[in-house]
Amino acid sequence: MYINSIKSLFHERLISHYPVQEINSFFHLLTENYLNKSRLELALEPDLKLDQKDADLFLDALSRLEEEYPIQYIMGHTEFMGRRFKVNKNVLIPRPETEELILWVLNSNSERTELDILDIGTGSGCISISLSKQLSDARVDAMDISEEALRIAAENAKENKAGVNFIQSDILTLKSLSRSYDIIVSNPPYVRKSEKSEMKNNVLKYEPDLALFVEDEDPLIFYRKIGELAFIALNKSGYLFFEINQFLAEDLVKLIKAIGFDSVELKKDIFGSDRMIRALKK
Ligand SMILES: C[S@@+](CC[C@H](N)C(=O)[O-])C[C@H]1O[C@@H](n2cnc3c(N)ncnc32)[C@H](O)[C@@H]1O
Repeated sequence: MYINSIKSLFHERLISHYPVQEINSFFHLLTENYLNKSRLELALEPDLKLDQKDADLFLDALSRLEEEYPIQYIMGHTEFMGRRFKVNKNVLIPRPETEELILWVLNSNSERTELDILDIGTGSGCISISLSKQLSDARVDAMDISEEALRIAAENAKENKAGVNFIQSDILTLKSLSRSYDIIVSNPPYVRKSEKSEMKNNVLKYEPDLALFVEDEDPLIFYRKIGELAFIALNKSGYLFFEINQFLAEDLVKLIKAIGFDSVELKKDIFGSDRMIRALKK
């Protein structure tokens, strides 16, 4: 089968699901992934003929894209902070907004060394591994309730040669954190179940509920618990960083201040939504 016929088939069968640009982007990600060919290399070989095995890979991916299965799960990996991370249905696909959170953590601590860091709800390990790579003298712990997620996170740490200590624990039932830290960071579940109707199928149907959703009755449950534990476990001048639900930003600032933190700051993401909070323990 010729590569150009496959490309036409992608457009024909996916046009009712995705914009043209996104279909092109899927196609090029897959050609890089399956054939190790860049967009430019492919343009120079319009008559490239695929053997049956490679053609089947594309056709299988096409069927899954028709079901709106995420491209990152199809390929089995994604890129985050310039590094490759394995992903599967047990972990949230790392988002660009979370890269912004990491940059804020790094900028806030550029003068400090030998930091003790904890990432709560590590998922694929994207936050803990990125921080461990960027801050080579840091000691990094990472926690998640999900054994399957921790398995992927550990594989990602190995692939990226990052030294992270993974801990399986339910943060909501923990009485205290086992040691003290200079930085505690978390991107916990924060989408209210009532927000499901505004979400796209690829997220709703395939990304793990455990990573995404909280009950409408208490949407700040993770922030309250992590905030309280962090206020005790953080060292003097330690920082708590959260990724947040933009619709709950003001409530969250009040909550974090009520716990006792000083200089609680909100930060917007590139889309202009309140997406992060930084709080200082004096
Ligand atoms: C929004 S995802 C964040 C994943 C990753 N840190 C990221 O930024 O892409 C939230 C993570 O919290 C974990 N989680 C959910 N409930 C938890 C609990 N009670 N204790 C610890 N981790 C929990 C989920 O398994 C999931 O990996």
